[in-house]
Amino acid sequence: MSTEDPRELVGTTPAPEERAMETALRPKSLDDFVGQQTVRRQLSLVLESSKLRERAADHMLLSGPPGLGKTTLAMIIAAEMSAPLRLTSGPAIQHAGDLAAILSSLAEGEVLFIDEIHRMSRPAEEMLYMAMEDFRVDIVVGKGAGATSIPLELPEFTLVGATTRAGLLPGPLRDRFGFTGHLEFYAPEELERVLRRSAQLLEMRVTDAGFEEIASRSRGTPRITNRLLRRVRDWALVHGVAEIDRRAAGAALDTYEVDPRGLDRLDRAVLQALCTTFRGGPVGLSTLAVIVGEETETVETVAEPYLVREGLLARTPRGRIATDAAFAHLGLPRPETQEGLPGT
Ligand SMILES: Nc1ncnc2c1ncn2[C@@H]1O[C@H](COP(=O)(O)OP(=O)(O)OP(=O)(O)O)[C@@H](O)[C@H]1O
Ligand SMILES: [Mg+2]
Repeated sequence: MSTEDPRELVGTTPAPEERAMETALRPKSLDDFVGQQTVRRQLSLVLESSKLRERAADHMLLSGPPGLGKTTLAMIIAAEMSAPLRLTSGPAIQHAGDLAAILSSLAEGEVLFIDEIHRMSRPAEEMLYMAMEDFRVDIVVGKGAGATSIPLELPEFTLVGATTRAGLLPGPLRDRFGFTGHLEFYAPEELERVLRRSAQLLEMRVTDAGFEEIASRSRGTPRITNRLLRRVRDWALVHGVAEIDRRAAGAALDTYEVDPRGLDRLDRAVLQALCTTFRGGPVGLSTLAVIVGEETETVETVAEPYLVREGLLARTPRGRIATDAAFAHLGLPRPETQEGLPGT
């Protein structure tokens, strides 16, 4: 059984023990990668052309919310190029020297994956500009007046950068990528395909309606859908259910407090407070956080983005308000007249 906090069930960060499972469920080729038609088509062109030219492919930037497949795509890129892959991340590169060490040890044609590239330090970033453009870096030796820089030739490599916040990337860095792929949230049918594949790997029996039920609660995110599938498997195992249908999937996920729309306990607490205590709002974020007993930041970064995306909550200059859809979702009547409140 899992030790995961149920609150984290629809979170986007993978738990440490989850990473091994993610590796097992990762598609290994572009053909196995579900959805993201546009990015897949563009990417396959870039890769095909580089194979024909027999040169390393252009540098690529992958952007999009967590859990949509950026790391998976980076691995696929290396596999499709039959190139070795080096994995690192922005926070791990604090000094230009860290980056120099990595760059100088790359092999010809190697794929260098830098996750969270927007969190790299400034000096490292500047070194990266030159490395990306001219495949060379200047290594500074010594300090002050006696410092000299030694040019170092690099092998041709392909940089694959991933970021959840493309907007935070400085222009000069963004411009040096030959290709930018933006990953979108997945449609329910696409998540069902992800689920089908994972269920097969996990040797689970699930009906079409069962898949549909899990997909609809997955917030458009493959990481979440795979996680919910594993929780449903736990539930089925304990309850001796051999085949998971809609009812079983629903009952399992209800146990974990993931509702039919993918909302968890905190999401619902926020909506409930907004709709009942504050009659739909507007109410300030910090007041709302106090009522649900959470940190302001948790409400703002964990619960709100999904509620806004689902059209259940809106941010206005006067505070947060609940939409009609929020009242409908909670099965509550909309309070009569709310004087001076913006209609939604
Ligand atoms: N298109 C897809 N088809 C099938 N499975 C997918 C797809 N995209 C992602 N997954 C699954 O979702 C999980 C998370 O994907 P991945 O680690 O690539 O996300 P990420 O975008 O790198 O997230 P983060 O921003 O947190 O690093 C993986 O285990 C993978 O199996
Ligand atoms: Mg990743």
